[in-house]
Amino acid sequence: MRVFATRALPGRALEHLAGEVRLEVWPGAGTPPRAELLRRAAKLDGLLCTLSDGVDADCIAAAPSLRAISSCSVGTDHVDLAAASARGIPVGHTPGVLAETTADLAFALLMAAARRLVEADRFVREGAWRDWQPGLLLGRDVHGATLGVIGLGAVGQAVARRATGFGMKVLGWSRSGRRIGGIEIVELADLLRRSDFVSLHVALAPETRGLIGRAELGLLRPGAVLVNTARGGLVDEAALAESLAGGRLAAAALDVFEREPLPKDDPLLAAPNLVLAPHIGSASVATRVRMAELSVQNLLAGLRGEPLPHCANPEFAKFAKPLRR
Ligand code: GLV
Repeated sequence: MRVFATRALPGRALEHLAGEVRLEVWPGAGTPPRAELLRRAAKLDGLLCTLSDGVDADCIAAAPSLRAISSCSVGTDHVDLAAASARGIPVGHTPGVLAETTADLAFALLMAAARRLVEADRFVREGAWRDWQPGLLLGRDVHGATLGVIGLGAVGQAVARRATGFGMKVLGWSRSGRRIGGIEIVELADLLRRSDFVSLHVALAPETRGLIGRAELGLLRPGAVLVNTARGGLVDEAALAESLAGGRLAAAALDVFEREPLPKDDPLLAAPNLVLAPHIGSASVATRVRMAELSVQNLLAGLRGEPLPHCANPEFAKFAKPLRR
């Protein structure tokens, strides 16, 4: 069976795969160009991809013998799940293993935005530090503040636990209306009006695209801070850049963007009080190794016609096999 991995992955997971299939790993530094993916698709039984590969309906149609897709990511908004399901192709993904690591980054971004750490670092390096000043780089308190968590899956809940440890009050909203102990569940508009910090943790889907648009940004308290480690498409970035420039929002911290990598002329780059990271929510050594292992397990299960440890197609979820850890 022929498998194409669009990236070399951390750890030794690809070695297990190489023992079982004819594996080709994209030798380039970045994402394979689309034409290359389509050309290789023609002969593939399995595709091991990442969130920057657009596995759309055309790509799936170009792969007549494809039996399994596995993405080394929890999000699957880059894969056309309906097209895969229509062909009976399971799509593996990696939930669970990255929740705590992503929550760590969300909290790091929240703290960095609240206490202006990036500005402070620049200030020291640029030699601007003359003496201790009572009004220098004043930020916002995290302890005692209210955090609104949008999306109460594994990552949202892990962020809420951290917030509780910091003495924050936690409000939560999710599309399913799920209830979690220690989190006050409120309507989305209520959460936006009452929170000092808002952190996004919903998947990107047609129903959530643009969830935080101009109107929602307008509901935020003056001086609020927005953190996004989920997907860029959840937020109207132009409206966010305006809210920051106009001083209505105190700050924002983003790990994800509508267009990745962020284009050099993107208006966000000119926005004040914005902490930026290059989509590194799950980027710890241990977590990336676990994600690679899980994505290889998913792919091998799919190629063998067995239930996947974690299958993203809603139609196939009942066939998913719980992962033993
Ligand atoms: C990261 O964004 C992921 O989907 O794994």
